[in-house]
Amino acid sequence: MTDLDQRSFDDIDTSKPHPARMYDFYLQGKDYYEADELAAANVEVVFPTIKITARTNRQFMHRATRWLASEAGIRQFLDIGTGIPTRPNLHQVAQEIAPDAHVVYADYDPIVLRHAEALMRSTPEGRTAYIQADVRQPETILSAGKLHETLDLTRPVALSLNALLHFVPDESDPYGIVERLMDALPSGSYLALSHCTPDFAPEMWEKVAQVYRAGGIPLQVRSKEDVRRFFDGYELVEPGLTVPHLWRPDGESVEGATDAAVSIYAAVARKL
Ligand SMILES: C[S@@+](CC[C@H](N)C(=O)[O-])C[C@H]1O[C@@H](n2cnc3c(N)ncnc32)[C@H](O)[C@@H]1O
Repeated sequence: MTDLDQRSFDDIDTSKPHPARMYDFYLQGKDYYEADELAAANVEVVFPTIKITARTNRQFMHRATRWLASEAGIRQFLDIGTGIPTRPNLHQVAQEIAPDAHVVYADYDPIVLRHAEALMRSTPEGRTAYIQADVRQPETILSAGKLHETLDLTRPVALSLNALLHFVPDESDPYGIVERLMDALPSGSYLALSHCTPDFAPEMWEKVAQVYRAGGIPLQVRSKEDVRRFFDGYELVEPGLTVPHLWRPDGESVEGATDAAVSIYAAVARKL
């Protein structure tokens, strides 16, 4: 373990809620602390379907990754805002189709680093790596040695930013960040993204945002038009930007997954 990794290990702050640990609570994992459970329970009071949201989002990641590996022939993935490992993780989905797939994960939360070993269990033919990084500093990801050792950026890469950008408010320039990341990838690359929206239940989402902000987590949910802007300049794959349960459904669905219950938009787009 490097000094940096050790520092990150010691950095876990259990006094305040963190998005990765709250999400783990919604997914009924076991890697959250009291502050996360309290905040997540408060979200559930104002938005009772949040667990449906989390599970439906996770299923979108599975289907989008499967589509990218099987239909689009992608063999390289960069997943930022990975979250605490939850089986199947992205590399397991991709490597089930393409055992030689290479996957780089990145997250800023030290608790994800603590569990990163689970993300390293690659197939022998494939490869995975984990970078501790904040997406608001895309250069730290793009210049990381582990990225270049694992991915060949002259060949297409699928950049996956699932349920991440609503934690990046406008003042942190989320559109510029996505552009910078996509600029580093060659044509034939893809952007897969999901994002919470207030469109179907605006008053509830205002209350959800208040719970996150009270815990020190900036949350900016975005309208369909604002989410679409992330895809400007890329070619949306059918069915375009939609609610995740309607993005190439495969028969597996979460009970109760209506548009308002899920409140997410999701899409995959190709860089021409
Ligand atoms: C809701 S979880 C989504 C996990 C996974 N991508 C999924 O969709 O199942 C959001 C993740 O983004 C991470 N995150 C939030 N802000 C971040 C930032 N500025 N840089 C890197 N990761 C961030 C959190 O730590 C958390 O793990």
